[in-house]
Parts: sequence; C-alpha cells; structure tokens
Amino acid sequence: MINLAELETAQGWIAAANHLTVLTGAGISAESGVPTFRGEGGLWRNQGFMELANARAFQRDPQAVWAWYRWRQDMVRACEPNAAHIALAEFEHRQPGRITVVTQNVDRLHQRAGSRSTIELHGDLFADRCIGCGLVHPCHDSPATGPADPSNPDQDPPLLHCRACNLVLRPGVVWFGESLPADAMQMARNAISSSDVLLVIGTSGVVMPAASLVTFASRSNIKCVTVNTESTNLDGTVDLELIGPAGLIVPALLSV
Ligand code: OAD
Repeated sequence: MINLAELETAQGWIAAANHLTVLTGAGISAESGVPTFRGEGGLWRNQGFMELANARAFQRDPQAVWAWYRWRQDMVRACEPNAAHIALAEFEHRQPGRITVVTQNVDRLHQRAGSRSTIELHGDLFADRCIGCGLVHPCHDSPATGPADPSNPDQDPPLLHCRACNLVLRPGVVWFGESLPADAMQMARNAISSSDVLLVIGTSGVVMPAASLVTFASRSNIKCVTVNTESTNLDGTVDLELIGPAGLIVPALLSV
C-alpha cells in the first residue's frame, strides 16, 4: 500500500531540488518484462547463468557465454520501456539539465524511453567489446544473431571479431570480479554532489560499488528516497522508503 503522505513529502523534495540524481536497478525494468537478478524468477537464481557471467567462463567456452548473452539481448529487444522509464525521460525533456540517471542496468530501456543524461555503471548489453584493444562495437540495431534457446548446444552463435585487431568480441557488460568502467563511478559521484535528492529505484542495494553511492549521498546530506516493491538493504541509510511498483510511483513523484 502506497503511503500518500510520504509520497507527497518526496514530491516536495524533488520539486524543490535544483538537481535530481536517480540510481536505478533491475526492478525498474521488471514491469517491462525484464527479469531481475535476485528476486523470484531472478537470473541469479539459476546457478548455471551465474557461472556464465565472468571472464574465466568466457576463456573456457566463449560460445556458451555468447549464447546466453544473445538470448538476453533478444529477450530485452522484445521488451518496451514502462511508465517509470518514460516518466524519467519526460522529466528530462521538460527540464533539461535537471536530472541525471545512473543505472546498473544494461538493458538500454532508459535510452529507449528518451533519457539522454544517463550513466551506465555495468556496461551495455548491446555493445560488444574487443577482448584485446577494447574497441566497442555497437549492436543496438543489428538483428538477433543468437539462438532463441541458450540451453540448446546445437545452436552456438558464431564468434564475432574486432574490425580493428581481429581478436574476439565479448559482451560489453561488467562481469563478476571486474572493475566498473573507469570514469562511471566518478561521474555518478559528481552528479550526486551537485544534487539535492537521490532517488533510488528498483535495486536491492547489495552490489558494490554501486550501492556505496547511496551512502555517499546520505553522508553528503542529500535527501535519499527509495522506490521498491519491498524494504531493502538500504533501509537504514535513506530518508524515505516508498513501497510499491516503480511504474506507479515514479510517474506520480515526477508529475509535480
Ligand atoms: P536485484 O535483482 O538485486 O534487485 C531488484 C530489486 O528490484 C529488488 O529489491 C526488488 O524488490 C525490486 N523490484 C522488483 N520489481 C519492482 C518494481 N516493479 N518496482 C520497484 N522495485 C522492484 O537487481 P539490482 O539491484 O539491479 O550486476 O542488482 C544489482 C546488480 O547485481 C546488477 O546490475 C547485476 C547484478 O549482479 C552485474 O551484472 C554487474
């Protein structure tokens, strides 16, 4: 049940803010049909999937890893931005320069909704990257190249090679044990430092260093508000927890 008094308080903070930073996680895309990681039906509930998201797995069996990522690409391509993504993009459209979206998501649904001021902490599911020179090969518009079913070993996708150095391309996402893109955390901290409010939408807040941005904001005396279908790890750190689906709460929060 949404607490209307708390919703109004958060609306007031946002309306008065000179700048708003939004940190999003998988939960904001749940209503678009993209699975989260840790909840019911979450990707990491499948141990096999979890074991594909690291550099060792790619060295051992790049085609198995690619099969899974091509499957994820196809799944996300079939999803559309929901009311929460759209509300954030419309806020930016109405008030350019007043909002920064920092996302842990790799699904590009913020960009597809129209957000431009977006920082991707965990990479991009649709940007293949060379394992050698690091050149990024965007594949936003390319047709699906992988099998519909990643568990079918007969359908391994072909390995693609870098047009600059001819080494193999890997998914352009951050895997377990890897660092975030060099400037992403600093850009996120800069955005938070110039904000009055941090809105944290649909993340369990357990993955570092992304979750440390909330502590950083709270220590900097910036109002922190979470939007989540349940109470999270960030509970004690934030000023207000709005419990409910992002697709309902975010448009209401940003409508003022
Ligand atoms: P999680 O799966 O850990 O958490 C998703 C959160 O979204 C949970 O707290 C849910 O309660 C909440 N949620 C679900 N549906 C929602 C809805 N309709 N509205 C609002 N909230 C909802 O996903 P993340 O926190 O994003 O990293 O996970 C962080 C990182 O862990 C991911 O970026 C990924 C993963 O390992 C990498 O792959 C590098």
